[in-house]
Amino acid sequence: MLSPTVLIVALFAFLVLRYVVQSYHHYVQAKSLHCEAPPAGASAFFGIPAFYRLTRAVKEKRWIDYLCDQFAINGNTFQQQFLNRRLLTTIEPENVKAILATQFQDFCLGTRHEQFYPLLGDGIFTLDGAGWSHARGLLRPQFTRDQVADLSMLDAHINHLIALIPKDRTSFDIQRLFFLLTLDSATHFLFGESVGCMLPPSETTGVLEKSAVRSAQGFADAFTTAQDYLAARSRAQGLYWLVNPKKFREANSQVHEVVDHYVNVALESKRNPDKKQDDRYIFLQALAADTDDPKMLRDNMLNILLAGRDTTASLLSSTFFYLSRHPAVFTRLRREIVEAFGDSKTSIEITQTKLKDIQYLRYVLNEVLRLQPPVPVNFRVATKDTSLPVGGGPDNRSPVYVRKGQMVAYNVFAMHRRTDLWGPDARSFRPERWEENAKHGWEYLPFNGGPRICLGREFSTKEREKGV
Ligand code: HEM
Repeated sequence: MLSPTVLIVALFAFLVLRYVVQSYHHYVQAKSLHCEAPPAGASAFFGIPAFYRLTRAVKEKRWIDYLCDQFAINGNTFQQQFLNRRLLTTIEPENVKAILATQFQDFCLGTRHEQFYPLLGDGIFTLDGAGWSHARGLLRPQFTRDQVADLSMLDAHINHLIALIPKDRTSFDIQRLFFLLTLDSATHFLFGESVGCMLPPSETTGVLEKSAVRSAQGFADAFTTAQDYLAARSRAQGLYWLVNPKKFREANSQVHEVVDHYVNVALESKRNPDKKQDDRYIFLQALAADTDDPKMLRDNMLNILLAGRDTTASLLSSTFFYLSRHPAVFTRLRREIVEAFGDSKTSIEITQTKLKDIQYLRYVLNEVLRLQPPVPVNFRVATKDTSLPVGGGPDNRSPVYVRKGQMVAYNVFAMHRRTDLWGPDARSFRPERWEENAKHGWEYLPFNGGPRICLGREFSTKEREKGV
């Protein structure tokens, strides 16, 4: 029988040997791919202090600024030890293009599936590989239909929002209202019936009052709680399973109960088409034509709700933030909108086509999405030993090596503010820059690019995809 001391020494020797063998393997691989080392970011004590600093910045709501400071300190691409992971961070458009498009197969979502599973299950936003291809194939046709661009559906929701604005000129939080607006409109679009969180309880359908959330506001709160925990699980990386409190589990089951109700209605109406109440296009019912699997339907509804709700509310909030601080932009935008659609006395129907003709509106939205991209930071994990085109060596122009399993973060927020790419006024809000130069490549990426480009963007802007 071996003594504990011998066992410990044997284990230690094994770990050292494994480390040496692996390091040599990666050294050879990196050489064969002509890679050079990128600058090193804060890595002391296994990155625990760096993790602590980030967590504090999150608590103080200044984490984006904190991350941007890291580029000022370390350069556009740098590597660091972050808890138990090696992390490469980049704001080089060439690298982002490689991660998302030209080397799409070399990267995956990593542990996002496990982190988000309790709320989102198996859906387009959480899956990789064949599961993702299947979900995308199922959902994509729904985003190319004309009905999806039907704007008349929004009318009632906008009116509810306007009704909630105080008329005595007192200040109010418009962002809160935009989050209610996008929940009401997204559920209307997806389920065929709005949860109605902007309506007084007497005017809702009563579906939610009978469920555990008790009210539309209760549904909004449960969805927000669940999402907050998803964000915390994402930040905890491989230790995500530690973040699983009762509050999170309860919020998930409350959200599921509500969505399951609508899934059952859709499946019931498929089984009994004669009982269908109207012929309106309903996303969930269209999807139910392709599958009878209630979990698949629930998961994909929630994946789209998550992908489309906060992003749109964020864009609306940021747009009003900038318009309120730039009266000249507001005046020009208002004039162009009134020219196209009239004012409250002479209103002309608002259509997607006519909206797209208002170029200045596009410039304003482009500029808001540049300065405040709703998905400011994202990451992928390498599926094999690979490399990225730039960031290594003394001039940072050599390829950098990426090990299988390594996390690569890309920071769209910081990339959109690079003065070498956008000019000395990169941090200023100036929609006119899009008039001067509307053509941008991978340095402009609010909707992602490559095969996983945002499905919502495709139907809403019909712009050319940033494909492979
Ligand atoms: C301003 C509004 C929006 C922005 C800035 C935005 C941005 C993004 C980004 C950055 C991604 C990539 C996420 C990733 O791969 O990690 C994404 C994915 C996605 N978005 Fe959007 N989005 C917006 C609105 C919408 C809307 C309204 C919908 C649907 C109604 C939608 C549906 C999706 C879906 C389904 C995906 C997953 C695509 C896939 O993985 O194949 N988005 N979006």
